Amino acid sequence: MKSIGIAIIGCGGITLQNHLPGLALCADVRVTALCDTDAATLERARQQTGVTTASTRYEDIVSRDDVDAVIIATPNFTHAPIALAAIRGGKHVLCEKPLALSATDAKAMAAAADAANVRHMTAFTYRFVPAMRYLAHLMKQGAAGQPYHYRSCRLQDWGTRNLGWRQVKKLAGTGELGDMLSHRIDFAHLLVGPMRRLVAQTKVLHALRQGAPSDLEDWVAILAEFQNGASGVLESSKLASGRNESWRSLDYAEVNGSEASFVFITGEWNKLQTGKAGGPGLETIEIPKEFHTWPGSPRDPGAGDPLVTFRYDQAFEFIDAIRNQRPCVPSFHDGARAQTVMDAAVHSSEISQWVNLA
Ligand SMILES: NC(=O)c1ccc[n+]([C@@H]2O[C@H](COP(=O)([O-])OP(=O)(O)OC[C@H]3O[C@@H](n4cnc5c(N)ncnc54)[C@H](O)[C@@H]3O)[C@@H](O)[C@H]2O)c1
Repeated sequence: MKSIGIAIIGCGGITLQNHLPGLALCADVRVTALCDTDAATLERARQQTGVTTASTRYEDIVSRDDVDAVIIATPNFTHAPIALAAIRGGKHVLCEKPLALSATDAKAMAAAADAANVRHMTAFTYRFVPAMRYLAHLMKQGAAGQPYHYRSCRLQDWGTRNLGWRQVKKLAGTGELGDMLSHRIDFAHLLVGPMRRLVAQTKVLHALRQGAPSDLEDWVAILAEFQNGASGVLESSKLASGRNESWRSLDYAEVNGSEASFVFITGEWNKLQTGKAGGPGLETIEIPKEFHTWPGSPRDPGAGDPLVTFRYDQAFEFIDAIRNQRPCVPSFHDGARAQTVMDAAVHSSEISQWVNLA
């Protein structure tokens, strides 16, 4: 089997936490090149990985012959130009969320990747939580009946600390909306389907974070109507004091349908709550073993912290799609679909009105 060469563009937090350990579990994969605009971060990654080909310019990396695929883990404003350059070089691309700064850019990325016949994937990592995968399976089978409501809540306590590029509109595009709610918009699409219209509000509660200007929202809420008639309520905050900052803080999604309800909490990776219509209340069900890892993943679900290790299946899905020349799940189209909702939410908040989705 030919080894697949991967270039990592952006060697910061998420590369160290998710991408490198995920790739390490994939057979016949080699990280062949590294890129980061920050020389010290690049040097640390070089020492950590032993990869000698490194540059502070992505243009030097994305067309190399020893690179088959590129992972983009940089601030949001750079995703589109780097992805388009990689696609022009004929490389497969796994890009972090949010895919771009606008739906126009995200759709252009998806169209370019399709036209070049390369694999493309959006890092909606929480689709890989075993309980979410099982819930998506149950919803596809119609276990909830006719969906009535979708509800999601992401509550974290980030306080007033400086968020770096994440608090600057021209670098991040949106605040809590892209950073956290984009995943839960993707859940909504996965579990219930496309939205018809929405009304949203965003709020910047701290215009200064440790003395540095912040022009992005700390809180966002969306009220949505789905094409199938279901309603959606989505809320996300960085200022839910006392709830803790990490991914262990509340990440909750619930679907109520004509037959049953299902409740998902990321922290309970191997459990769902469910209740039948007219029944005595919610009960907890275990996730079947075959859902504990992504199909074909070599990961041992019993090894390591399950709230961390489910993320490694994302790299497996990308590599497996490249090997088998099939579409990745989730793809750039899923990323673009979430971006369309995000654009509509920003617009709705600006004009204080409902916005229809195409
Ligand atoms: N999927 C998830 O669950 C998840 C979790 C965290 C972050 N993210 C996403 O990953 C991306 C990176 O986030 P992070 O937390 O790792 O940020 P980070 O700031 O820790 O790392 C980003 C790195 O990119 C480098 N960089 C900036 N511009 C660059 C360029 N033009 N070329 C090469 N390198 C460049 C920076 O120097 C930095 O080292 C963001 O889009 C973020 O939304 C996704």
